[in-house]
Amino acid sequence: MQIFIDSASVGEIVKWLEMGVIDGVTTNPSIMLKDGVYDAEAGVRTISALIDPLPVCVEVTTDEPDDMAVQARRLASWAHNIVIKIPHITSDGVPCYGVIKELEMEGIKVNATAAMSLGQVILAAKAGATYISLFAGRVADEGGNAPEVIRMAVEWLERWKFKSKIVVGSIRSVGDVLNAVMAGAHIVTIPPPFLNKMADHKYTRETVRQFLDDAEKALRLMKQAMRMG
Ligand code: E4P
Repeated sequence: MQIFIDSASVGEIVKWLEMGVIDGVTTNPSIMLKDGVYDAEAGVRTISALIDPLPVCVEVTTDEPDDMAVQARRLASWAHNIVIKIPHITSDGVPCYGVIKELEMEGIKVNATAAMSLGQVILAAKAGATYISLFAGRVADEGGNAPEVIRMAVEWLERWKFKSKIVVGSIRSVGDVLNAVMAGAHIVTIPPPFLNKMADHKYTRETVRQFLDDAEKALRLMKQAMRMG
């Protein structure tokens, strides 16, 4: 199982990369905006060089399927580890699977993004997407059972031996991460605050503090014994 970081913050990406816990990066236009990456080309080139050879997923910013393919080729030319995020459908509901098929046939890896259902996963897998992003938090927003959709998607992909990997995104809590992991997600993409929360535990802090205090006490006692003896 792999962990991606859902961020465009160079500081956060470097921090978690150096700790050896991330296998790739996902971004989208909202994340770029939030993390202050206004110059997409400069930001993406920096991130892709930093994490090379790991993948960085970058989303197209047009709603026209024909323009998506053109833009995707330009984005992919920035670095060899860039994966292009293509939405399953446009904002008007036009399916984009033809673009996914075309790009994959050209050797450009695609992440079919913003999936909310098993039906979308099936179509993206048929079109040849390397990754399929299932948005767990947004599935739950609509009253859906995200872990169940993840479990069914992974089971179906594996039963029929499709190459597509499920990336669970739209993580809103550490609980979402654990549910995705236990549902069999191939990859979970985690925003930095939840990576920090996963690492932290009040009782671990207390335990570490106790060991440090006892080590200090032992040192004091040893010095005392040496002085007396
Ligand atoms: C995943 O690839 C997406 O970038 C992201 O997880 C979307 O999550 P959101 O629902 O918080 O926008």
